Amino acid sequence: MIDLQLTDKTHDEERQGEALIVDAPLVRNGRKLYIESYGCQMNFADSEIVASILLDQGFETTGDYKEADVVFINTCSIRENAEQRVRNRLSQFGAEKRRNPKLIVGVLGCMAERLKSKFLEEEKLVDVVVGPDAYRELPQLLSEVESGHKAINVLLSREETYADISPVRLNGNGITAFISIMRGCDNMCSFCVVPFTRGRERSRDPHSIMAEAQDLFDRGYKEVTLLGQNVDSYKWKGNDADDSTEIEVNFAQLLEKVALISPDLRIRFSTSHPKDITDEVLYTIAKYDNICNYIHLPIQSGSSRVLELMNRTYTREWYINRIDAIRNIIPDCAISSDIIAGFCTETEEEHQETLSIMDYVKYDFAFTFSYSERPGTLAARKFEDDIPEDVKKRRLSEILIKQQETSLYRLQQFVGKTVRILVEGTSKKSDKDFCGRNDQNAMVVFPATEGVSAGQYVYVHIDRCTSATLLGTVVVEEPEIV
Ligand code: 5AD
Ligand code: SF4
Repeated sequence: MIDLQLTDKTHDEERQGEALIVDAPLVRNGRKLYIESYGCQMNFADSEIVASILLDQGFETTGDYKEADVVFINTCSIRENAEQRVRNRLSQFGAEKRRNPKLIVGVLGCMAERLKSKFLEEEKLVDVVVGPDAYRELPQLLSEVESGHKAINVLLSREETYADISPVRLNGNGITAFISIMRGCDNMCSFCVVPFTRGRERSRDPHSIMAEAQDLFDRGYKEVTLLGQNVDSYKWKGNDADDSTEIEVNFAQLLEKVALISPDLRIRFSTSHPKDITDEVLYTIAKYDNICNYIHLPIQSGSSRVLELMNRTYTREWYINRIDAIRNIIPDCAISSDIIAGFCTETEEEHQETLSIMDYVKYDFAFTFSYSERPGTLAARKFEDDIPEDVKKRRLSEILIKQQETSLYRLQQFVGKTVRILVEGTSKKSDKDFCGRNDQNAMVVFPATEGVSAGQYVYVHIDRCTSATLLGTVVVEEPEIV
């Protein structure tokens, strides 16, 4: 289940539990792999790398864990409830393992990195534990398990970007795909476990990113999302693809290179950081029609004091300045956010500051969370998690209500207008309807129309909306668009 409203989320717990089915099995050895992914888009992209590595070993994939020889669960540690879900799922796989003792169960990703060998000791049902930078070792680790040992590799790397591994597109629609452009994070936001589970930030070389985007376009894909924990700090230095001249590529330049592949290839990206997003990036978005006018710019809190405790390294005023720059340079740009309610010592007034900045920005969409202390983070070491659960819950619900109002307000601005969308396929709710997104990432649903199919760009007149979806009808003539 992909909730299409949520696909531009870097840490998107709502997408947890998706079974991934490979669309292109290679030479087979009769063994079947089942992968289930939780958490952020990066984890989903990583599962495509894992599948590629095991397909090269002759595996094929299955969407049913009961017929698998190897079950992998690619995990998320971002909040405690994410880890709890994974543990519940592991006990289900455990029941299967009791029925079929030959079944190999592996834990991959952030929880593997965070809990390391504890998994092998605590969870007798796990055979192999592999951190996000060790997937190349999977074939050897599986051999160790087959020879009767438990296997673990959770070494983090300063270089690994899996640049040369061509991801196997999993469960995709054949139209939109993720491209990982960097790994890790150097930011050390005090609440966040990611720098510990995914290691130091490193950028992938632009040549392999371009080659992957070009290959996707050649195979009929029409949209790529460039992924990184902090895409604005993308920086790569090395030799040009054609000669030995040394070049340096920043995120704005990378965006431009990918945009130039074809005007018919849409570009999205996630996640931007308020301290790093430059005017150069904004002007690049404005310059190319195929770079979508949509920026995910998490604020976390509207209070400068709380932002400092969070170690976000910007203030409320700085954030507002970045929003104003976006509005000036890309007037119709959609903006979304991540917001945390009830961070350590947050006062009622500071919570009100979060609500007031939401009024100022009027986000198109926001992912909202209640603060969850993560062991080992700066906040866990330095501050007391002192906001009572009921207060966190109430603040979170006030944030949610405000967001529902502004999401509706934003979508209402499209009603009566005509928008260009990329058709992604039939709608989740009815196969008589199609769905796709506009430039601003709003989901548009419209009755299936003759001559229209997935992968096409079409114009849709917006007749009405809910707080999450635009509803309309296809316009045949190419109109003046918004
Ligand atoms: N508690 C609550 N939310 C968190 N996030 C990250 N760590 C935590 C935490 N410990 C949220 C942030 C981040 C998003 C991916 O998850 O808002 O931007
Ligand atoms: Fe975590 Fe901050 Fe890095 Fe995002 S930028 S992954 S919130 S440390």
